[in-house]
Amino acid sequence: MKLCVIGTGYVGLVSGVCYSHIGHEVVCVDRDQEKIKRLSQGEVPIFEPGLEDMLASNMAAGRLSFTTRLSDGLAVADAAIIAVGTPARADGSANLDYVEAVAKEIGSCITAGLVVITKSTVPVGTNRKVKNWIAETCGHEDFEVASCPEFLREGTAIADTLEMERAVIGVESVNAERLLRDLHKPFQTTIVTCNLETAEMAKYAANAFLATKISFINEVANVCEQVGADVTSLAEAIGLDHRIGRHFLKAGIGYGGSCFPKDTQAFIRVAQQAGYDLQIVPAVERVNAAQRLTVVHKLKTALGHNLAGKQIAMLGLAFKPNTDDMRAAPALDVYPALEREQANTVAFDPIATEQAKAALPGIQLANTWQQAVKDADAVLLLTDWETFKDISLPELKKLTKQPIVIDGRNMFDPKEMEMHGFYYDSVGRPV
Ligand code: UGA
Repeated sequence: MKLCVIGTGYVGLVSGVCYSHIGHEVVCVDRDQEKIKRLSQGEVPIFEPGLEDMLASNMAAGRLSFTTRLSDGLAVADAAIIAVGTPARADGSANLDYVEAVAKEIGSCITAGLVVITKSTVPVGTNRKVKNWIAETCGHEDFEVASCPEFLREGTAIADTLEMERAVIGVESVNAERLLRDLHKPFQTTIVTCNLETAEMAKYAANAFLATKISFINEVANVCEQVGADVTSLAEAIGLDHRIGRHFLKAGIGYGGSCFPKDTQAFIRVAQQAGYDLQIVPAVERVNAAQRLTVVHKLKTALGHNLAGKQIAMLGLAFKPNTDDMRAAPALDVYPALEREQANTVAFDPIATEQAKAALPGIQLANTWQQAVKDADAVLLLTDWETFKDISLPELKKLTKQPIVIDGRNMFDPKEMEMHGFYYDSVGRPV
């Protein structure tokens, strides 16, 4: 099948590369000339394990190419896939300017019978708007729209795509359904067919539900701390019940990233516009906002409620491991809180260095974890990078001024930390 993927952000690029990998012929389009130039040379602008190699091999096989000209991409395409950003507006609603611009551009060079699939996360009703925007521009309705939301995670995007647990396809006709089924056939996955509105809602509901699980377990963790229970064993105890499930029950310092915070907000707006006042999702957000600062409270308790002039090592800046993405990362709340307390912070992240310079201007960055913790009064762990698990505890103790570790990701074993003489506090586990 011949595909034209529009937008080479996270979703567009990963999808385009994976579709080519399973045998489709893919042209990826982006209006950013510099980006297209780099991609055409095999350079991937995001940190995603395995993506660069897969991109190179599919380009070499002649199944994947990049262009800034939408008309070139559309000329021979069976389907166009819209994967441009839908950033949050100030009121939390999704900004559809990019989607609208792309739809109108498609309308200006559309070929007969094209199926236009929206992968961007969009409010309910957007696919119908896409249809209107295209029709207004091209003056006919000899094309179809379909919704196919994306469920991949950053850091595991390739596996999430190639081994997708389901594909959701919102369609209005047998023809569009057939095309989307063919498109997904090589994935050998379960396909849920529904109408456009259901597919659009499914994406918001999935992310809101996952965010709810995280805030739920974080609240349980906060109670565990008060009553001497351990949230790690508790999560296993409840997660083994299939009705609950083991995933997304890892207590920590709350969720971040480009999706959960944005999509929960957008979902609240979607419901409001439909005349329904959501109760659970706003609570999930409130819990998350508070959870992100719990490490600072724990730090203050450890350091006698005064952080002024104290040297704090912050380990981990990305919102989660295996990504350089700092969008809505907990560090964005924690660092300013430390600044307000007049602490001196030195931070280290194995990958997100450039992003940190842009997101947290003035932040002092170390090149290694050892440099960051040198003479620190306390160490704060914010991202569960695998490499932090290998930190030698005797070396850590020797380098710091005070052996204090506040672990926002439950990376270390409290007993081992005690054995090595650390003051150690984590999330929802007995001190
Ligand atoms: C999320 C969803 O998991 C994807 O299914 C979805 O496609 C994507 O959003 C999107 O809408 O595009 P992502 O934001 O890449 O993916 O990251 P996750 O791995 O889901 O993690 C999100 C946040 O939750 C991270 O800050 C992570 O640390 C936190 N988290 C996750 C927890 O605190 N506890 C957990 O048990 C799981």
